[in-house]
Amino acid sequence: MLGIIGAMDSEVQELKNEMPDAKITSVAGMDFYEGHIHDKDVVVVKCGIGKVNAAICTQILADRYKVDSVINTGVAGSLNSDIDICDIVISKDAIEHDMDVTALGYERGVIPDMDNSVFHSDSRLIDVAVKSIEEANLSVKVFTGRVVSGDQFIAGKEKKDDLVNTFAGDCAEMEGASIAHAAYVNNIPCLIIRAISDKADGSAEMDYPTFEKKAAANSIKILKQLIKNL
Ligand code: ADE
Repeated sequence: MLGIIGAMDSEVQELKNEMPDAKITSVAGMDFYEGHIHDKDVVVVKCGIGKVNAAICTQILADRYKVDSVINTGVAGSLNSDIDICDIVISKDAIEHDMDVTALGYERGVIPDMDNSVFHSDSRLIDVAVKSIEEANLSVKVFTGRVVSGDQFIAGKEKKDDLVNTFAGDCAEMEGASIAHAAYVNNIPCLIIRAISDKADGSAEMDYPTFEKKAAANSIKILKQLIKNL
């Protein structure tokens, strides 16, 4: 069973539409749609915004649905000047950028008492995603890079520069690393696929509503192709 998580309706609604016979189960305020896409067993869910919602959701996918892979789809702000609006970032790895225990001597992003704070994506999922994006013919660029996640919408140069300088992030969003974290502690392969909706700077207010839907639509096209290829 493949688990697919999006934070917002725009990020998963179209996938749910592909599953008219889905069995819907509500847990922790989230509706889990269990069914088939391209004959593959999938469970699709909107987790809501932010790291806590995303982690709760991933744990439910692990416990109740015994998923063998988790994919997080959605939009993100670009932190890399080479990565434009509507381009796609596939996670090489992911970090929780708002984890900060520097007061006790840890580097930013390091989670004390854990053996790992940089959550690596599954290499097979990366390869299949790259192939699927090529096949989806979207005329957008694809990057494999670092996703940084925190409970903040990044919309200013100073914070953006900080995330680049501290973490070498390629895009910023609010769920991916916590999904990767929850998947890691449950030994489940994970991948984040994000379409860029804004530049995570002052222009985000203008970019975001315009591109959010287009970017989300592209991620969904990719996901359908990816499910076919898995
Ligand atoms: N999702 C889309 N754009 C984002 C941004 N700039 N910061 C955080 N999450 C986002």
